[in-house]
Amino acid sequence: MTDFSPLDVDTIEAGLNTRLIGNEILLYKATSSTNDIAWEYASNGDNNGLCIFAEQQHAGRGRRGNKWLSAPGAGILCSILLVDMDDAGELLALTAAVAVAETITKHLGHKAKIKWPNDVFVNGRKVAGLLLESRPGTRAVNYVLGIGINCHQDRAFFENAQLDNPATSLDIETGLTVDRNRLACDLLNTLDRWLNVMRTDTDSVVAGWKAAGSLLGHHVVLEYNRRRFAGNCTGIDPVRGMILQLDSGGVRAFPAAQTTILKQSVNP
Ligand code: BTN
Repeated sequence: MTDFSPLDVDTIEAGLNTRLIGNEILLYKATSSTNDIAWEYASNGDNNGLCIFAEQQHAGRGRRGNKWLSAPGAGILCSILLVDMDDAGELLALTAAVAVAETITKHLGHKAKIKWPNDVFVNGRKVAGLLLESRPGTRAVNYVLGIGINCHQDRAFFENAQLDNPATSLDIETGLTVDRNRLACDLLNTLDRWLNVMRTDTDSVVAGWKAAGSLLGHHVVLEYNRRRFAGNCTGIDPVRGMILQLDSGGVRAFPAAQTTILKQSVNP
């Protein structure tokens, strides 16, 4: 793969306009997983908002035990530490997805979509994924939000990777070379802004999700705690997760962390 411009902490910091996110940024040339590094800093509340970037991961992970593959220097591999947040996992996952989709939309020039709970798709292919991990904090819950965005990968990379979902990169979609430092900076600024919205205005987060989400009103088959459920998606609840009007009758909510979508009647 071609050598692209490296990430640079000073360049990212120079464009930041955040209250919390990116109050410190660390960049690794290579590491196992940026989520693992972020967890090492979680015991100190002063590290709230810390962002870890890496050019390469040897053991990048995704949801449900999947791997996250990215050639060196080809993507955004980023983990953000949030210390002692009130337990808001479901809402935080929605908020982060809205922020990442908005950032990608900006760099793409057309709308990126969210596949519930927090994959970001462009033209039916996955361009970004989020992994939200939680552990008990001193006072409340600590979170590490891991974000992977495909930037410079070419089609051959995804063909060889044999992924569950068809995938794409920003460069493939735009035909241009995305500026990763600008993208990283926009990502942190956008995330910071949406986290502030989240604290006071849950309805706006849900509205942002609905505007970018693809499931509402569509038929879904999912697995929850090893059981299959099917029904129409009638809403997203910021606390309880996705609401389904079940084919078998009744209405039920499915939290993101324990749910996998097996089939949906509309492409993201
Ligand atoms: C998914 O789509 O399943 C989530 C992918 C999350 C990947 C990112 S890359 C940076 C951070 N470090 C990891 O090991 N995973 C996340």
